[in-house]
Amino acid sequence: MAQIAHNPDARPDYKSTLDLGAVLPQTAEVKGGHLWIGGVDTVTLAREFGTALYVMDEEHIRTQLRNYLEWTRYHWKDVDVVYAGKAFISIAMCKLVEEEGCYLDVSSGGELAVAQAAGFPASRILAHGNNKTLRELVEAIDAGVGRIVVDSLEELARINGLALERGLRQPILIRVTPGVVADTHQYIQTGSEDSKFGFGLRDGLALAAIQEALALPGVELKGLHMHIGSQIFALHSYAKAIEVIVHFMDEIREKTGFTVSELDTGGGLGIAYGVPDEPSTIKEFGKVIVDDIKEHCEQHALPVPRILVEPGRSIVANAGVSLYIVGTIKAIPNIRTYVAVDGGMTDNIRPALYGAHYEPIIANKADQPRDTVVTIAGKHCESGDVLVVDTPLQAAEVGDTLCIFATGAYCQTMSSNYNKQVRPGVVFVRDGRARLVVRRESYDDLLRCEVSECL
Ligand code: LLP
Repeated sequence: MAQIAHNPDARPDYKSTLDLGAVLPQTAEVKGGHLWIGGVDTVTLAREFGTALYVMDEEHIRTQLRNYLEWTRYHWKDVDVVYAGKAFISIAMCKLVEEEGCYLDVSSGGELAVAQAAGFPASRILAHGNNKTLRELVEAIDAGVGRIVVDSLEELARINGLALERGLRQPILIRVTPGVVADTHQYIQTGSEDSKFGFGLRDGLALAAIQEALALPGVELKGLHMHIGSQIFALHSYAKAIEVIVHFMDEIREKTGFTVSELDTGGGLGIAYGVPDEPSTIKEFGKVIVDDIKEHCEQHALPVPRILVEPGRSIVANAGVSLYIVGTIKAIPNIRTYVAVDGGMTDNIRPALYGAHYEPIIANKADQPRDTVVTIAGKHCESGDVLVVDTPLQAAEVGDTLCIFATGAYCQTMSSNYNKQVRPGVVFVRDGRARLVVRRESYDDLLRCEVSECL
């Protein structure tokens, strides 16, 4: 973003904080003019733990996981919910996922290491990645992960070899790209034919992978995986992909005699970043996924498989907020006013990367109307380091606590040390209690990997 275009349509928004509705954490309240989450005053949290700071509503996360379990199992007994750790992972998060009886998707050796540090049961872990390194495969197999989701023929051969060396058979799913273009940002579409992920159905690529897997003694093929993209609002993309994949399950049975006993339909359900966003609900998602699988299986006289769903964003995004302190306010006449905070693209790359939209408020003026229009700038050495362009906000003053909503997914996990910025801490709040689950980095952390002998 070389220049940020002036938006003449930007208008103040006289609505109150609580009118932000589904954008907010479920336990958000306004008390004494302050924003409270999980029964804790966010203004106090910012002071106590330092800013920038991620705050996550634990009850919200648990409710979302329970909603997925409830509304998928409502339609079919054999469903498991696999939380996608790439959205947000930490030891505390893994423990919470385990306590709620869910599974965990890890997409790297590093995520697996966090899960192991949390003591997460390996049998409930699915290992993902389009180019898992040999080391990551060894780690996953030695950890005893429940499933490896296979993404290429090379990987299939490597898993087979490693498993045979260890005298075991590794359970796997084969990732298939159903050729469906989901209605979302191009960068986060994954199910189309031109994709680095999985095996396409055209030209028999996926079928060849299935045949290969069935012939290898070191792998135990359980079924298929698909993931069509992320931040998806319209469920018809899922319906289409399910139709295609169940048809493929029929073809597999016909051509190989193998019956798919597990189908993982991936994640991707969208969330509300702003008031106009109207994502489908978990209840609607559960119905479409499960009913469509059942219906198509019936049509093809296939047994209904065990179903896995793999949500990430819709579990944690709205649970989380980012807190900052306003450091400077720069009014450029007839152009815009920049309100600069003590964080930015290092703790939330999504506006710069995807043009993502966020809703900010001033947490210590949460009961006041958002009757000015400003641009929230980060503190980094890039003009594109802007968190929200031309947004309604309460009248800002230096020292205010600024809160940006819906930052619980893909912000902390995509954070960086650009400009040698230390990464923020993460605090979980619940029932009036705050607990630090990831501490803020220090300068020592920044220097930890420096090799001093080079001096
Ligand atoms: N399963 C697989 C195999 C995935 O690749 C993903 C996300 C998920 C599940 C979870 O999808 P979700 O429910 O969170 O949409 N950094 C981007 C999102 C990338 C998503 C990558 N895969 C963003 O910030 O929007």
